[in-house]
Amino acid sequence: PKVCWLAPEQTAGKQKPYMYTQGQAVLNRSFFPCFDTPSVKSTYSATVTVPEGFTAVMSATSWEKQKDNTFVFKMSQPIPSYLIALAVGDIVSAEVGPRSRVWAEPCLVEAAKKEYDGVIEEFLVVGEKLFGPYVWGRYDILFMPPSFPFGGMENPCLTFLTPCLLAGDRSLVDVVIHEISHSWFGNLVTNASWGEFWLNEGFTMYAQRRISTEVYGSAYTCLEAATGRALLRQHMDSTGEEHPLNRLRVVIEPVTSDGFSLAGVNPDDTYNETPYEKGYCFVSYLAHLVGDQSKFDAFLQAYVNHFKFQSITADDTLGFFLEYFPELKEKGVDSIPGLEFDRWLNTPGWPPFLPDLSPGQQLMKPAEELADLWAADGLNMEAIETVDIMAWRTYQLVYFLDQVLQKSPLPAGNVERLSKMYPKISKSQNAELRLRWCQIILKNNLEAEYSKVKDFLHSQGKQKYTLPLYRAMWGGSEAAQALAMETFSATAAQLHVNVRNYVKKILGLEVTE
Ligand code: BES
Ligand code: ZN
Repeated sequence: PKVCWLAPEQTAGKQKPYMYTQGQAVLNRSFFPCFDTPSVKSTYSATVTVPEGFTAVMSATSWEKQKDNTFVFKMSQPIPSYLIALAVGDIVSAEVGPRSRVWAEPCLVEAAKKEYDGVIEEFLVVGEKLFGPYVWGRYDILFMPPSFPFGGMENPCLTFLTPCLLAGDRSLVDVVIHEISHSWFGNLVTNASWGEFWLNEGFTMYAQRRISTEVYGSAYTCLEAATGRALLRQHMDSTGEEHPLNRLRVVIEPVTSDGFSLAGVNPDDTYNETPYEKGYCFVSYLAHLVGDQSKFDAFLQAYVNHFKFQSITADDTLGFFLEYFPELKEKGVDSIPGLEFDRWLNTPGWPPFLPDLSPGQQLMKPAEELADLWAADGLNMEAIETVDIMAWRTYQLVYFLDQVLQKSPLPAGNVERLSKMYPKISKSQNAELRLRWCQIILKNNLEAEYSKVKDFLHSQGKQKYTLPLYRAMWGGSEAAQALAMETFSATAAQLHVNVRNYVKKILGLEVTE
């Protein structure tokens, strides 16, 4: 049941069925027999025969279409089981770079090409400059049906992306940069256990922001990192800082055959902000200890080269770090009180070190000030009207909305006025803005705009968008709870089984698969 079979209505084109697999973390064991642990790597080949009018694609270094609708795939580098992925559907491709094309349903391929034409290669080149050779040959992208549960999945040679990223203005490219960064961190150097998922995601967040800094500068990148920090704050507030999943090293116990744990942690449950953003802080802390960006970049490149095609633990990483910088080892940087490596790994809670994001201030400050104005009791419209948000970039608006959300509920009437004043926000089709706007609607119980929450949840099934909204609805008014139930019954069938089960848990419904 963990291989996804979609009916035509669940695709963008609504004409033909679709199937795809999502391996991470432990779903590929129901796709093919395997050692379904990231500690084991192997090459693979596959022969896939599909019905007339369909195309198969896989995370493979080479592929070939034979007669009789048969596709032959080969992955010539060793990879862990979770990175093997297959999709079959009515898909076509368009070139966007010398080693990159986009795959999508015919009705989306034009938009997909427009969004990424020319930029992918730039990210790859910067990544190679920073972290060493790109070993996977091609870097292609497949745009998934709207119910795909993630923003992106770094299947080697063929990243899977949510169609929500097709914003029309390249505003959400950070996800692509993130998946590209996994080409070194995660896909080449892999966490040996899902208990150390932060090794994949924390290093990838760091690499993503290094590439972003090179391409877009530090102001923009720090702004993006600040929205990440806000997500970590929200996550820790809602789970409690001391929650066992708020450690970088999570204790994973054996799970029952239905995939849900008795006493331990299901690896899929480690997908939260801690491995990403606390992991990012830890890697930033290591860089801070080194003190010189180019020296730390060189370390990252040496680290990838040393451990490439292997699966490792955090002890391997930190041991290599101390070997690489013997002066730091001598100074005992692994045991500075309050900042012990051991504490980073094993103590839940807020990171003991936060990287300096002040280069983003020039972009954050106006957003903070505007949020303050909107949170005031008597609105100072004169001051509000002097701020021209039309010139703001998407992440500035996201940051502004996160501030508004934090201050919500606002004094009566303010959100209604905000909604009227900024159709650029309240009527936006950009998924990151829609998520925040829906959260604001719910936190302020703005029943007049409930339909926007419903429409958004009908339009896509990404886990990071879906769960926060159900949590907000279920924690809200009776009307909000009714909205949750109504929306869930209408959309349950199209959600990925994992996402469906998490929503059921939130709504107190029985989880059966
Ligand atoms: N590898 C993850 C997606 C994932 C995590 C799938 C855990 C299954 C289990 C992917 O690289 C990822 O992190 N995607 C993020 C992108 C974001 C951090 C830019 C996402 O989908 O939100
Ligand atoms: Zn990732």
